[in-house]
Amino acid sequence: MERHAFPNDFLWGGAIAANQAEGAWNEDGKGPAISDVIRNGIVGGQFDGEVIEGHYYASHEAIDFYHRYKEDIALLAEAGLKCFRTSIAWSRIYPNGDDEAPNERGLQFYDDLFDELLNYGIEPVVTISHFELPLHLINAYGGWKNRKLIDFYTRYVETILTRYKDKVKYWMNFNEINHFHTIPLAAGGILIEDEETKLQTIYQASHHVFVASAKATKFCHDIIPNGMMGAMLSLSPIYPHTCHPDDIFESYQLRRRSLYYSDVMVRGVYPSYVKRIWREHGIEVKMEEGDLSLIKEHTVDYLGFSYYRSSTHQAGMPVLGNTGGIIGKDNPYLEKTEWGWPIDPKGLRYVCNELYDRYNIPLFIVENGFGGKDEFNTDREIADDERIEYIQKHLIEMHEAIMDGCEVIGYTWWGPIDIVSAGTGEMEKRYGFIHVDKDNHGKGTLNRTKKKSFYWYKQVIESNGKSLYE
Ligand code: BG6
Repeated sequence: MERHAFPNDFLWGGAIAANQAEGAWNEDGKGPAISDVIRNGIVGGQFDGEVIEGHYYASHEAIDFYHRYKEDIALLAEAGLKCFRTSIAWSRIYPNGDDEAPNERGLQFYDDLFDELLNYGIEPVVTISHFELPLHLINAYGGWKNRKLIDFYTRYVETILTRYKDKVKYWMNFNEINHFHTIPLAAGGILIEDEETKLQTIYQASHHVFVASAKATKFCHDIIPNGMMGAMLSLSPIYPHTCHPDDIFESYQLRRRSLYYSDVMVRGVYPSYVKRIWREHGIEVKMEEGDLSLIKEHTVDYLGFSYYRSSTHQAGMPVLGNTGGIIGKDNPYLEKTEWGWPIDPKGLRYVCNELYDRYNIPLFIVENGFGGKDEFNTDREIADDERIEYIQKHLIEMHEAIMDGCEVIGYTWWGPIDIVSAGTGEMEKRYGFIHVDKDNHGKGTLNRTKKKSFYWYKQVIESNGKSLYE
């Protein structure tokens, strides 16, 4: 490969999630999802358990992608995207999650959406479950702590994979599943009611997720000849705050708490380090006969991950997190975004190497981006130079990782079109190269406007990365 070349078939793209973009939360037979009853985002926001009149729920309209997807995809095609990642809203297909039959209108919507993408030659990349569990599955079953969820998920997976098998090759089982510990409701589909049993609940629910993932992978391989099922984790790295051995080892353990999810889904076995955790916390994970062999035989084909920033951990400090990862100590070597997220391009190279050394399977960077405020200048343009600089530096480090020997198959810019923030529910934390006219209170025309970064990314894609160095 010449010095500045990316692989010829590199998947340059963009990524969104249904609940942050579609809106139409109760249209065409869709049932409510957990994301439809959370106010002010999944990190520290309010889960109402039902829709309470008079409150503002950002997902109900979001950016109205459900009705405007044709206009939006035309813009994404103009930017030259090779792939587009979105999720299927489970409750559009099975409104309660446990229904016997799927909702045809929901299925039709994704048929139309994928057809639209394919007409432009854009490869769909689909997350099966992205922070949007059908609400009924939490209220009636307690979510993933209940083994029945494996059957409901499997039915849903079989329905969508069968329906879209000729349209979608790249699948991902669960979004950022390692956020089970820090964002248990959205990422893990469980409510933590009792701190004492928190770990028991997390490890039991995680086991159900692993069995469900293995079944989904098996089904994918059975019916889609070249189908690829990926895991998806949030993998911003954790650096030790100092070279004190306690900082180093505790950071390592914290990292393993995340990698636990890929260890099981990629390697197909429970890692030995978790046995000690279970023993010391009195955790008993109930398994059924055949679970472990399923997990072993049906491992994922690639590892998708999000990368926004790095964290710095000091031994003994409380472990809190948000959508970007663990919230650590200040890293004096790094600048931060307005939302306090450290900007660390080299961390991306580091993580690619760490993951490829550990697993040796293809990596797919399915989320990366810069969340910030935008302003129109006097010419009614948005010159988002900071965002361009952020993405450029990250892409250069990603390229370094490829030169290091890591197999990276694609990169999807998070929120290519402004969407609702998952963490805070804000609209004004913007990631897009396309601006959407809407504010934090739901006001605005929803008009779309190309930002400076639109033209910049288009060039990056057109030149297959060469323009990054010009
Ligand atoms: C990831 C999620 O955690 O980070 C996305 O997969 C989310 O859903 C993204 O939007 C950025 O986080 P935030 O809180 O800025 O939207």
